[in-house]
Amino acid sequence: MRVLFVCLGNICRSPTAEGVFRRELEAAGLAGCVEVDSCGIGPWHVGKAPDPRACAAARRRGIDLGDLRARQLSNEDFQRFDYLLAMDHDNLAVLKRQCPSGCRAHVGLFLDFAGHQDRPVPDPYYGGEQGFEEVLDLIEEASRGLIEDIGRRLEAS
Ligand code: 4NP
Repeated sequence: MRVLFVCLGNICRSPTAEGVFRRELEAAGLAGCVEVDSCGIGPWHVGKAPDPRACAAARRRGIDLGDLRARQLSNEDFQRFDYLLAMDHDNLAVLKRQCPSGCRAHVGLFLDFAGHQDRPVPDPYYGGEQGFEEVLDLIEEASRGLIEDIGRRLEAS
């Protein structure tokens, strides 16, 4: 099973989701069954480490994002991943536009797995520290819901 988290720049929300989700997978004993990656819609930050504010907020919850490097969404991602999970509606619109016909992946909003239908993970880039805490709260909640969904799929297969 392969999961790709997608945001605009791949330096705030989606690397945070990657780090949190890896930790939750380990806690659930599923780390060996699920491959995790993240990417951005835009090219601006390719090759960069996550935003220092995102790293600091994640570190306060025991998660190290320091080794992650930003990359841009590619067409191959639609073949490779089982879940392509957008942080907001703009990201989702790009994914849906770029998704090739016949693509079997689940393409949707990440927070749907937190039971927050149609709600985005707000972009914290232009805001303060509190925005990064809110991002973490939402991502932790959705990660647990996604693990339940993956667990059901693995049981059914
Ligand atoms: P992200 O946040 O999409 O969560 O990584 C942003 C990062 C950079 C920019 C916007 C949002 N930017 O405009 O450069």
